[in-house]
Amino acid sequence: MTCPHLPEGFDATDPDLLRSRVPLPEFAELRQTAPVWWCPQPRGVTGFDDEGYWAVTRHADVKYVSTHPELFSSNENTAVIRFNEHIGREQIEVQKLIMLNMDPPEHTRVRQIVQRGFTPRAIRSLETALRDRARAIAEEARAAAAADPDGSFDFVTRVAVELPLQAIAELIGVPQEDRSRIFDWSNKMVAYDDPEYAITEEVGVEAAMELIGYAMNMAAARKECPAQDIVSQLVAAEGQGNLSSDEFGFFVLLLAVAGNETTRNAISHGMHAFLTHPDQWELYKRERPATTAEEIVRWATPVVSFQRTATQDTEIGGQKIKRGDRVGLFYSSANHDPEVFENPGTFDITRDPNPHLGFGGGGPHFCLGKSLAVKEIELIFDAVADVLPDLTLVGEPRRLRAAWLNGVKELRVRSTTPA
Ligand code: HEM
Repeated sequence: MTCPHLPEGFDATDPDLLRSRVPLPEFAELRQTAPVWWCPQPRGVTGFDDEGYWAVTRHADVKYVSTHPELFSSNENTAVIRFNEHIGREQIEVQKLIMLNMDPPEHTRVRQIVQRGFTPRAIRSLETALRDRARAIAEEARAAAAADPDGSFDFVTRVAVELPLQAIAELIGVPQEDRSRIFDWSNKMVAYDDPEYAITEEVGVEAAMELIGYAMNMAAARKECPAQDIVSQLVAAEGQGNLSSDEFGFFVLLLAVAGNETTRNAISHGMHAFLTHPDQWELYKRERPATTAEEIVRWATPVVSFQRTATQDTEIGGQKIKRGDRVGLFYSSANHDPEVFENPGTFDITRDPNPHLGFGGGGPHFCLGKSLAVKEIELIFDAVADVLPDLTLVGEPRRLRAAWLNGVKELRVRSTTPA
C-alpha cells in the first residue's frame, strides 16, 4: 500500500522522530490510508543490516498478529533485539533464552512455570510493603521540594524510578543490602540509544551478565535450602516443571528490563498527563477512579512497538506478507484507533471499557506483570495525591531517545506543600 501524504521511506522506529512526538501524528494517516505500511530502511535498526519491516497500525491488525504466533514468530529476529541499534549476532543468540523471544512450545513451558510467581495472591502479598514504599518516596520528594529554593524537583528520579525496582526486588526476595546493586545493573541495561547517558554497549552487557550471575546464585542457594518465597517455588526440584538456575537468571534479567523502564515511564507520563489536564488531577484526588491506571497506560503506551517475523506467506488486513518479513506492532497507534476508542485524543481516567494494547495484543506474550504494574501505578498516584497534592509543572519534560520506548528522562515539578 502507498500513502500519499507521508514522505517516502517514513520510519516509525526513528528514535529522533519518537523523541519529539508520541503518538506520531503520522499514525492517523497510516491507519486510514496504509494500515500495513512497508518501511524499506528503518533507522531504529541501522548498524545491523538494512532490511525493512511492515508497520501495523490498526488495533484489529495488531491484535490479529499478536494472537497468531504460528504465523508470526517472536523467536526469528525476535521482539526487541532487532530494534536495538548496537546489538551483535552473538548477543542475539543469548537473547533467545529470554521468554519474550521464544515461541510455543518452549514459551508455553516457561510461561506456565513463571506465572506461578504472578498470581493475584502473590501480588496482594506485596501490596503493604509497596504501599509503605510509595508513601516514603512521596514524602522524600516533598522534603526535597521544601529544601529547594525554587520548590522544584525532578519527578522521574525522585518518584518514578524507585517503585518499579523495589517491586521486582520484593517479588523475587532480594535482600535490602543487595538492592542498590540490582538497581545499578538494571539502570545500566536500560540506558539504550540515548547518547546523553554515555553508557557504552560493553557496560550494558557487563551489567546484564552480573545481574544474571547474581540471580543464578540466588536460584542455586534456594535449591539447596528452599524458603517460603517465589524463587524457591520457581526453581525447587528441577526437572519436575521448574526452572533451571540459568533459566531463572534470564528470567530475572527480563523482569529487570520489562518491569523497570516500562512502569517508570507510565508513572512519569501519567504525572505529566495529570498536570497538563488539571480537571483529571482534581477528579483523581477526589474520587480515585479504579479505571485510572489503564488509561495512563493507554495514554502513555511506554512500549511503542515490538516486532514479529512471518513464518510463512500470509496476509494482514488484506496486505500480502512474505515468509521472513518483519512486522512491527505499533501499540502506540492501536491505542489511538478511533475505530475502538471514542475521542482517543482525550485523557479520560474514567474511560470504561478501555481495551488498550499497552500491555500487548492479547497473545501468549501478553504482559506477565500487568497486575503488578497496575498496582504500582495505583499506589504511587495515591501517595502523590495525598502527600504532594499541589504539584505543578515546571517547563516541558525531557524525552528519551529510543527506537521502541516512549520515555521521559526528566520531568521537573514544583510543590509548595511544607515538608
Ligand atoms: C511482556 C508492556 C510492566 C513483565 C510485555 C509486553 C508488553 C509489555 C507490550 C509484550 C506483549 C506481547 O508481545 O504481546 C508493559 C508495560 C508495563 C509493563 C506497558 C508497565 C506499565 C511489567 C512488569 C513486569 C513485566 C511490572 C514484571 C515485573 C513482563 C514479562 C513479559 C512482558 C515477563 C514477557 C511475557 C512473555 O513473553 O510471555 N510487557 N509491561 N511487565 N512483561 Fe510487561
